[in-house]
Order: sequence, then C-alpha cells, then structure tokens
Amino acid sequence: MDISNGSVIVTGGAGGFGGATARRLAALGAKVVIADVNDERGEALAAELGNGSVYVRTDIMDEASMEAAVAKAVSLAPLRAAVITHGGPPPPDKGGRVINREGQRVSTAHFAQTVQVFLISAYTMSAIAAEAMAKNEPLASNQRGVIVNTASIAGFEGTPGQVPYGAAKGGIIAMALNMARDLAPIGIRSMAIAPGTFATFAYERMGLDKAQEMFGPMVLNPKRMGDPDEYAMLAQQIVENDFLNGTTIRLDAGQRFAA
Ligand SMILES: NC(=O)c1ccc[n+]([C@@H]2O[C@H](COP(=O)([O-])OP(=O)(O)OC[C@H]3O[C@@H](n4cnc5c(N)ncnc54)[C@H](O)[C@@H]3O)[C@@H](O)[C@H]2O)c1
Repeated sequence: MDISNGSVIVTGGAGGFGGATARRLAALGAKVVIADVNDERGEALAAELGNGSVYVRTDIMDEASMEAAVAKAVSLAPLRAAVITHGGPPPPDKGGRVINREGQRVSTAHFAQTVQVFLISAYTMSAIAAEAMAKNEPLASNQRGVIVNTASIAGFEGTPGQVPYGAAKGGIIAMALNMARDLAPIGIRSMAIAPGTFATFAYERMGLDKAQEMFGPMVLNPKRMGDPDEYAMLAQQIVENDFLNGTTIRLDAGQRFAA
C-alpha cells in the first residue's frame, strides 16, 4: 500500500515500538498522528518528524479520545494505516497468577483491566480506524487501508504468571483473521505482530542494561533483546505489502517461554 499521500495513526506512538514505527512511516511520506499520553516524548517526536506529523494526546481507555485522534488523522490526509502499539494504566493490584503464593486468586478487576488495555482498546481503535478507512477512495490496487495490531508471543504459549496478559494477547491473535475477513470486501487488511522481548520504554524502570542481562540469554539467536526498529521494519513491510493479510507474525528470534 502506498501511504505517501495518506495519514497514519500510531497508538503508543511515543513508545518504543510506536516511535520507531512512526519514524519509518513518516519517512515513506505519511503524516503520522502520534497517539499517546506521554506529552513530552510525543511532542518531541512530532517535532523530529517535521513533515506535518502531529502529537495528539489520546487515552486508549477513552473511546471519544480515540475517535478524536482518528478524526485528526483524517483531517490531515486519507487514513491509510493504523498501527496499534499502546500500553496502558497498570491493574489495581499486583500479580497475574491464577492463585498466588498466599493462596489468593488474581482479582477479576485485574483481569478486566488488562484485557481492557491490551485487547478491548485495540479492538475499539481498529474499528474506529476501519470506519474512517472505509470512506477512503480506494487506491489503484483496490486497497483502502491496513490495520496492524500488536500481540505477543505470550498470546501463543503464555508468560509464566501472566494469565490476564496472555489471554488479552491471545485475543489479538484470534482477532487478526476475523477482522481481515470482515474488512476484505472494502479493501482493508488486518495483521498482527507477536513480538518476543524488546528493549522499549517498558523496561525503562528496570534499566535497559539489567533487562538485556536478564532477557537476552532467553532468546535463541541472536542472544539479545529485540531492537524496536526491528519491529518497525516488519510494521513497514506489512503496510507496504498488500499480500500480507489475516495472520499474526512472530518476531522473536526463536524465543519460546518455558513452563
Ligand atoms: N517490549 C516488549 O518486549 C513487548 C513484547 C511483546 C509485546 N509488547 C507489546 O507492545 C506494545 C507496546 O509496548 P512497548 O514495549 O513499545 O512499550 P512502551 O512503554 O515503549 O510504549 C507504550 C506506549 O503506550 C503509551 N501509553 C500508556 N498508557 C496509555 C494510554 N492510556 N493511552 C495511550 N497510550 C498510552 C505509553 O506512554 C508509551 O509511550 C504493548 O501492547 C505490549 O504489550 C511488548
């Protein structure tokens, strides 16, 4: 898909995956809406891109906020791609194991919040974006747009102690093909990327050196965490390659979580 005269929305656009993807898609000529709640990083990235791309403060917990961000993208140029890479507010209590070491179950509120952040909001943003793309004139390729969601290898084999997160990411994997089928008649593709362990802002608090020390050896080859630009390279390929549709691509250098 040619996005050079279009706009793109990237949720979590000020984050690791989102920022790297915004840079690559802006370099293809698209005006990017950086949809995030980190004002400082979002504004700085918009200034760096400098091609009419904008930061729009967007809370993925709020449907109206997501609608406004998509409307902003449409006002810049026809929306051709939505890349959904956000994090969100942490659950109200710690944990993730069905039953913790004290014998207590993970709260339903914890489960629900995790699913809200990583699955429901991704669905909502996908649907709002698809609604806007459906109004586009199709390109010569008969395509109107593409949606890229972010799953995780945790959605395939689970991360130990993270039942809610694995369930949410499994939902993203299930959604990719279903959504592709629904949107096929209007020329919109739907894909997902399932990353392994990547050095993004998500590991900022732990410290990237410590994270590399801990997670690098778990990766098959190369023995390091992924670089966010390696995610962005795949996102770019999905956007550009019309024959990628309806599936989730693992991007994990062979990493598998053990039980
Ligand atoms: N980093 C990894 O190893 C890894 C692996 C698999 C999947 N993922 C997934 O990738 C996605 C992005 O993660 P990342 O690693 O780039 O993290 P990141 O922390 O670098 O980026 C996440 C971004 O989301 C933003 N955000 C937080 N709350 C928000 C809200 N309410 N509304 C809008 N934006 C909000 C943050 O400000 C941040 O910029 C997540 O869905 C995560 O589950 C990450």
